[in-house]
Amino acid sequence: MSHADDHSGTRRDFLYYATAGAGAVTAGAAVWPLVNQMNPSADVQALASIDVDISGVEPGTQITVKWLGKPVFIRRRTAEEIEAARGVDLSELPDAIARNGNIAETSAADENRSLDEDGEWLVMLGVCTHLGCVPLGDGAGDFGGWFCPCHGSHYDTSGRIRKGPAPENLPVPVAKFTDDNTIKLG
Ligand code: FES
Repeated sequence: MSHADDHSGTRRDFLYYATAGAGAVTAGAAVWPLVNQMNPSADVQALASIDVDISGVEPGTQITVKWLGKPVFIRRRTAEEIEAARGVDLSELPDAIARNGNIAETSAADENRSLDEDGEWLVMLGVCTHLGCVPLGDGAGDFGGWFCPCHGSHYDTSGRIRKGPAPENLPVPVAKFTDDNTIKLG
């Protein structure tokens, strides 16, 4: 093998490993631009439903996808988060309504907000119900769920408002599993 061949072979290997490494690290973060690019235009967006691959989402983490121009949080909750959400006395909730677009109006019990019966998956619009900021997630705020620093709204591990000026729970959009690894929004 000439020196030139040897060099290009090394370079190919380097590029291959670098690309594979970057792909593995940013798998979750890549969801947003990917889905964004798939939305062809503003007028088609209004009708769109999208499929989200959730196979890479580990317990205790979430991804954010853009749908109909808004961020949607898809969180795979830990057993502790589910237990916290389901152990709440419903009389403590400022907003007693589930705000779930998949079912008729009912109580804000966590069972009425999670996507699956066991409560592992929580899907919500990531738009604060006060003035529309995007709350911070991953255990933020006084109730271990989401926190909107704009004016101090705290949401629990079910995305229900618990403290601060936001009047309503984070809404659950129309969503369903189409297979074990795919959630369809819309
Ligand atoms: S917009 Fe979230 S607290 Fe005001």
